[in-house]
Amino acid sequence: MKEIRSIILAAGKGTRMKSSIPKVLHPICGRPMIQNVIDVARGVGSSKVYCVLGHKSSSVAEALSDDLICVEQKKLLGTADAVKAAATFLKSYKGDVLIMCGDTPLLSKQTVKSIVRKHRKNKNVCTFLTAVVHDPQGYGRILRKENGAVVAIREDKDAVGYEKEIAEINVGVYCFHAPELFKVLNEIKPNAKKKEFYLTDIVELYTEKKLKVDAIETEDATEGLGVNTREDLANCEQILRRRILKEFMLQGVTISDPSTTYIDSSVVIGKDTIIRPYTFIEGDVRIGDDCQIGPFARIRPGSKIGNGVEIGNFTEVSRTKIGDQSIMKHFSFLGDSIIGSKVNIGAGTVTANFDGVDKNTTRVADGAFIGSDAILISPVKIGKNAIVGAGSVVTKDKTIPDGAVVTGVPAQIISRKK
Ligand code: UD1
Ligand code: CA
Repeated sequence: MKEIRSIILAAGKGTRMKSSIPKVLHPICGRPMIQNVIDVARGVGSSKVYCVLGHKSSSVAEALSDDLICVEQKKLLGTADAVKAAATFLKSYKGDVLIMCGDTPLLSKQTVKSIVRKHRKNKNVCTFLTAVVHDPQGYGRILRKENGAVVAIREDKDAVGYEKEIAEINVGVYCFHAPELFKVLNEIKPNAKKKEFYLTDIVELYTEKKLKVDAIETEDATEGLGVNTREDLANCEQILRRRILKEFMLQGVTISDPSTTYIDSSVVIGKDTIIRPYTFIEGDVRIGDDCQIGPFARIRPGSKIGNGVEIGNFTEVSRTKIGDQSIMKHFSFLGDSIIGSKVNIGAGTVTANFDGVDKNTTRVADGAFIGSDAILISPVKIGKNAIVGAGSVVTKDKTIPDGAVVTGVPAQIISRKK
């Protein structure tokens, strides 16, 4: 397979977001939106991924993984200028280069692969992605000849007359043969209205030079959605969320009501687990097989749930491990806890895991029974098969021995099970 590299454009200010956070760092389904684009770049086999940064570049660079090459665009002079910023790294490179935007988080690996395939098969100098959309406003429009050949991309602000009505838009994903890209890039003139250098102008320059340019239309137009405003952000999040839920369902997870279920892409869930309505599962959570989660449950990052676990209504689990067949059915909070298997967490149980300075650990061994409304002031350890009576407060630094029965405030041992 021939080498491919990727350039991700992410220097823009994102003015329309009205935010102090750089646009590409706004999260979608739990991750900065640019991460989805980086995953696509990696997923198609890019040997190197360059991220062009500008506005608040250091905070963006900090949020990204170290194996990316961050390139600084000193002045934000447009998308062609952004590509020029990466050119010094690609001087002697003779292969293909993908250019994508950090603000199109719904793009899929399969689609980008199909662009590269067509590009190579037809020996094009440029192959780019288009989408036919209901509302093309704001996007570059695709101008074609009567025979269908691509002529140019007309930016929204420059579109006149019938051009405004064109529903086929530029998604902002291109595959270029590097030598012609960097040669012709320098011929792009600043746009008359915006004084910016538009990468999209390269298409017309190529067609004038009779170089082979082609466009490929996405089957799923939502892939082309770019985030420019908070409204776009919400739309994209909703679409990505549906895709994530669909994938879980394909893998054998029941989602009773997708419209009220929020699961991040980084979550792993085993088969025959049922996720009931109004449930939120965030970050690096893993859930085993045959569990029942929700309704109204929130499982937060750093949590690992075993098999056959029940987590019922009005519950929160954070940075917590729960062993197989444990149950926690009603209004409870477990934070920084390590819960064994076959443990009963009674209604209203709360771990007081934060002492104002540190987060402390609660350990509950296999088979323990925590009665309703108990408070476990961490750090505490509850032994195997121990029983904590309803309404008890197990105070800080206590270790309840295996099989002990404790009750009261503060909890005292009243008997021991055999
Ligand atoms: C761009 C395309 C448009 C396309 C749309 C798809 C151009 C001129 N227009 O328009 O045809 O329909 O994307 O979403 O390319 N950026 C930089 N440096 C700059 C300017 C922009 O890195 O100096 C980055 C931005 O961070 C962003 C991307 O390039 O990730 C696109 O820029 P943006 O200003 O959002 O372009 P659009 O107006 O959306
Ligand atoms: Ca954009």
